[in-house]
Amino acid sequence: MENKKLILVGGGGHCKSVIDVAESAGFQIQGILDVPENVGNKVLDYSIIGTDDQIPDFVNDALFIVTVGHIKDAALRIKLHKKIVDAGGTLATIVASTAHVSKYAQIGEGSVIMHQAVVNADVIIVRGCIINIFANIEHDARIGDYCHISTGAMVNGNCKVGNETFFGSQSVMVNGIEITAGCVIGAGSLVRKNATQKGIYSGNPATLKIKLQ
Ligand SMILES: CC(C)(COP(=O)(O)OP(=O)(O)OC[C@H]1O[C@@H](n2cnc3c(N)ncnc32)[C@H](O)[C@@H]1OP(=O)(O)O)[C@@H](O)C(=O)NCCC(=O)NCCS
Repeated sequence: MENKKLILVGGGGHCKSVIDVAESAGFQIQGILDVPENVGNKVLDYSIIGTDDQIPDFVNDALFIVTVGHIKDAALRIKLHKKIVDAGGTLATIVASTAHVSKYAQIGEGSVIMHQAVVNADVIIVRGCIINIFANIEHDARIGDYCHISTGAMVNGNCKVGNETFFGSQSVMVNGIEITAGCVIGAGSLVRKNATQKGIYSGNPATLKIKLQ
């Protein structure tokens, strides 16, 4: 039988959203790992049972999901994914009961597809991504490693979103557009041209506001 025991890594606001999704998908949440000062606290109905350093204690019994959020920087999410993998842990892939994921889509480990999101045919979501509430990923789109496609965002057909990119709430990419790795797209932006320079983009049409290294 499929292992549905789950340890959450990160006990902030995003953790609450993932708890709701994981419960809906039939996972049995065993507890949360967070920083030492939060051990003993609760997030919704679940206790913070230890710190990230205790990941190895759970690798034989449960799956893991990283539950820290990401807007400007995916570094903490990446670090925690690596810590789990280095300890021999297995990352879960979680799809909310109310999400629609095409049987022709591929979703990589460590990703969460949240309530009411739609992932259409021939989409590839590589690994460690957040596809947030009401986001729509259209046919043949490719979402790279550790991206966050935020609430109500629209990634249209054949788009490519580079690794570690944050795509803000209710932003839209028109068909076939590419965003290079490590970008931040502000909420409510319309991306009509390829974003070839790593940076923060916003507006309608979206333009480069700040270059990032
Ligand atoms: C893009 C973003 C990360 C920039 O944040 P920031 O670095 O703190 O930048 P600021 O808010 O100081 O904005 C700087 C300027 O950029 C422009 N700007 C920023 N975000 C913008 C947006 N979404 N649309 C249009 N212009 C925007 C504005 O001109 C702003 O100037 P102002 O201070 O005169 O208003 C932030 O605005 C944003 O959109 N965050 C995403 C929110 C979101 O989708 N959350 C969902 C989480 S699930």
